[in-house]
Amino acid sequence: MNIISILFAITSYLMIFCNAQYSTYLTHYEDKPKGLYFFDSFTEKDGTILIQLAHYYNQTQTTCILTDIHLRIVFPDGTVKPLEVAHQIPASNFCSLKNLKDVFKNFFINEFMILITYFDGADEATSIHTGMVIDFDGNLLQYLEFGVGIGKISRRRNSESGFTWSRQINETTIAWSRYKPDPTNPMRIIKLNSGFITSPNPSSVIKSYKLFGSGNGGNCFVLVTKLNKTIASDPAWEVYANFLDEEAQNIFTYLIYQSQVDYFNLNFIFCRNSNGEGYNCLMQVETITPIQATTTKMYYLLTFLTTGSVINNKKVNIGTDAKTEILSISVLFNGGFLVIYPSENNKKSGIFLSQNGEYDGDWKGFNGDVIQYAYLEHNDTVWGMLYQNDSSSWTIITEPLRDRSIVEKYKHNNPTILETTPTDNVVRNDLDAITIKYDKAIIPSYGNISIYQVVDDHGELLRQTYSGLSNYVTIANDTVEIKVFKSTFNKPNDIYFIQINDNFVNSKRYDEAITGIDKRVWFLNTAMDNSGSCLSPITVLVRLNAQGTKYLNSLNSKEFDKFYDDLMNEFSKIIPVGRSRLPADAGKFQNDPYDPNNYILLQVKISPPTETSDSCAEDVARDLDALIINKYSTLISNYPLSSMLDENYGASVTREGWRDTLKLCLIYVVGGFLFVTGIYWIARCQNPKAQNVFIFTFVVIISDFILDMIFIMYNSQMVSSLFIPRVPFPETTRNNQETAENNYNGEEEVAENKNLGKKLINNVIMKMFKNNMR
Ligand SMILES: *[C@@H]1O[C@H](CO)[C@@H](O)[C@H](O)[C@H]1NC(C)=O
Ligand SMILES: *[C@@H]1O[C@H](CO)[C@@H](O)[C@H](O)[C@H]1NC(C)=O
Ligand SMILES: *[C@@H]1O[C@H](CO)[C@@H](O)[C@H](O)[C@H]1NC(C)=O
Ligand SMILES: *[C@@H]1O[C@H](CO)[C@@H](O)[C@H](O)[C@H]1NC(C)=O
Ligand SMILES: *[C@@H]1O[C@H](CO)[C@@H](O)[C@H](O)[C@H]1NC(C)=O
Ligand SMILES: *[C@@H]1O[C@H](CO)[C@@H](O)[C@H](O)[C@H]1NC(C)=O
Ligand SMILES: *[C@@H]1O[C@H](CO)[C@@H](O)[C@H](O)[C@H]1NC(C)=O
Repeated sequence: MNIISILFAITSYLMIFCNAQYSTYLTHYEDKPKGLYFFDSFTEKDGTILIQLAHYYNQTQTTCILTDIHLRIVFPDGTVKPLEVAHQIPASNFCSLKNLKDVFKNFFINEFMILITYFDGADEATSIHTGMVIDFDGNLLQYLEFGVGIGKISRRRNSESGFTWSRQINETTIAWSRYKPDPTNPMRIIKLNSGFITSPNPSSVIKSYKLFGSGNGGNCFVLVTKLNKTIASDPAWEVYANFLDEEAQNIFTYLIYQSQVDYFNLNFIFCRNSNGEGYNCLMQVETITPIQATTTKMYYLLTFLTTGSVINNKKVNIGTDAKTEILSISVLFNGGFLVIYPSENNKKSGIFLSQNGEYDGDWKGFNGDVIQYAYLEHNDTVWGMLYQNDSSSWTIITEPLRDRSIVEKYKHNNPTILETTPTDNVVRNDLDAITIKYDKAIIPSYGNISIYQVVDDHGELLRQTYSGLSNYVTIANDTVEIKVFKSTFNKPNDIYFIQINDNFVNSKRYDEAITGIDKRVWFLNTAMDNSGSCLSPITVLVRLNAQGTKYLNSLNSKEFDKFYDDLMNEFSKIIPVGRSRLPADAGKFQNDPYDPNNYILLQVKISPPTETSDSCAEDVARDLDALIINKYSTLISNYPLSSMLDENYGASVTREGWRDTLKLCLIYVVGGFLFVTGIYWIARCQNPKAQNVFIFTFVVIISDFILDMIFIMYNSQMVSSLFIPRVPFPETTRNNQETAENNYNGEEEVAENKNLGKKLINNVIMKMFKNNMR
């Protein structure tokens, strides 16, 4: 008995061991009667996979599927989110079109949106290629019309730069249209532009083209054209690179290859942006030997720059054998390529090539059970969908490509970035610079580097942004150092991310753009705040610039109140600070007498925090100062009113908090008085005959003493408690007079109020005292 069970245990162990041909398996169970089988997939660079399942009418003839869209999102942590798209699309899409996979070219637009493509009609030659944008819960957001006929869609690596649809419409013309997420609303797609690209040589025809993302945020179309040769020395083939800029406004065309040899065919298998070292394209040339009627294929790796100059054209040894068919070529994260071939028994095998096209080892391959596969660049792995025996489940596997790990390098999703500081991504109070080390010599360029705060999971708040050419950027030893403003990481224990545009730096050698870092890839956390309590309010002055001064002078008092309120609303969003901590009523203002232009100063009182997690008024004032001083790199310049503030003045702290202190004193005194009265009455009830009135006499003496002290304190402070600097209000224009009621009138008023306050308190106390005496 025992021996049998041990043997059984060993065999089942062995079975598991033998079955585990791949390093990881992920099985997801489906509702078997639905009859769902794998249809197609899209793989995002962070490892998220979008799978489409379909119910085929006939398993052997896979041209018709049931009219439903079944999506499964496989997240990198292995969770699977099913998405049944309920929105109707024309039924013809599911059957009559020639190649179903041309219909559905679904992909993730960004972390909020999925694009599902289809045809708005039955005939693909006349129907409009259409996009339906849905969110990750399947809600319909938007429809997009791309153009007539089956087009190609190229999504840029950086999801913020969107995607481009294109289609060759006749022998000489390619139609294109370019889309991107709205920069102010990442849940909406806007169309940037559309147009045509024609063969530059009027007597040639376009044989094929390749579309890919270029380094400057736009696209590049590589056009393979063939000429009608009349003279033997005429070129037979010409290849052009057409660069479409980021905003899709201009196209620049360069001739990058030319051959007199009348090849049977010339074709580009792929092109890619090689991150500061130009663009690599794999070119396939086919020749036919007439006698044996055999074709020979040769491969070249063509490298060219954005300026159109070709820096390399190198013969590559992959499958010179005509029978060798290439299944796919994956561009690997660390440079280099994986070329995959079919081999015996439905197996897939492959070889690695270096970035220069040199043989770099064999890949161990997949067995026949993998029906579709793709490269996962975030951990240098390939994933594959296994053959489904039935519709009750599907299984995907992953297999590392090589032994070396790139996970460390993947941290910033950018192979050219080696290291950043702070290395632990924790921001401490004294952080004033961040450094980024690249793997090559770099020069600054016009792209921006921006720091955002994460708000409510999906939201973001811009903290600072400037271009590589700004004074805040210094470069030494392949390392960029960027200045961090005091206001940037102003919330303790919170999450921020840094975004780098393509073109923030260029490679020194070729002056080609280096790819940046997408939003929400490189996160930083602020350390816990251990600051003590902070109870005092603070008052700051901000100054308007010429435009703002002019604008304010044109307002009447009611408009001024609105202006002030709107400005406080803007501050509340920009700093950010709770609106209730900024004044509810318009503050005072006056012209700055020390300023030769007499620009207007505005007073803003910042209240102390009501919750301990909020920042102190001093910190808010310091942040506001940094934000205004660095106005052109912060949100201050993005809002209509705050953009009228003077960056040369910032926000300066004044000692103008006495009124509130006085109010506080009043409350204490009145409260104290009531307390004493209470004691008096209690004492009187208990012992009516005693001289309880002495309690009051004592209190009056004390409070008079305190009030005198306060009076002396405030009078001695008065000079500095006013605006710095302070002069009589200049009566220049009529407008100024109109608004004079809002102006701060200087010393007298304050002194009067002060005295009034003291007299008032004394009077009240005396009166009550007298009343009690009776
Ligand atoms: C499925 O298609 C094959 C090939 O066209 C055909 O022979 C077979 O009858 C079809 N089966 C069904 C159930 O329609
Ligand atoms: C690579 O990432 C995928 C998911 O994106 C995961 O399933 C797989 O286990 C990872 N492989 C390794 C070797 O970490
Ligand atoms: C190709 O299409 C374009 C745009 O519709 C048109 O202007 C051009 O005349 C066409 N060329 C040919 C050869 O049909
Ligand atoms: C090329 O030449 C052939 C035959 O001479 C002609 O029919 C065709 O129209 C020409 N194509 C172009 C684009 O000029
Ligand atoms: C499919 O069936 C074969 C043979 O029974 C089995 O070896 C294989 O593991 C099954 N595949 C899946 C994914 O269940
Ligand atoms: C950089 O930021 C500035 C100001 O926010 C903006 O005007 C400019 O278009 C940005 N440049 C790039 C390349 O995104
Ligand atoms: C750059 O590297 C050189 C040599 O490694 C070193 O001497 C120099 O101090 C470095 N400069 C900076 C700014 O780190």
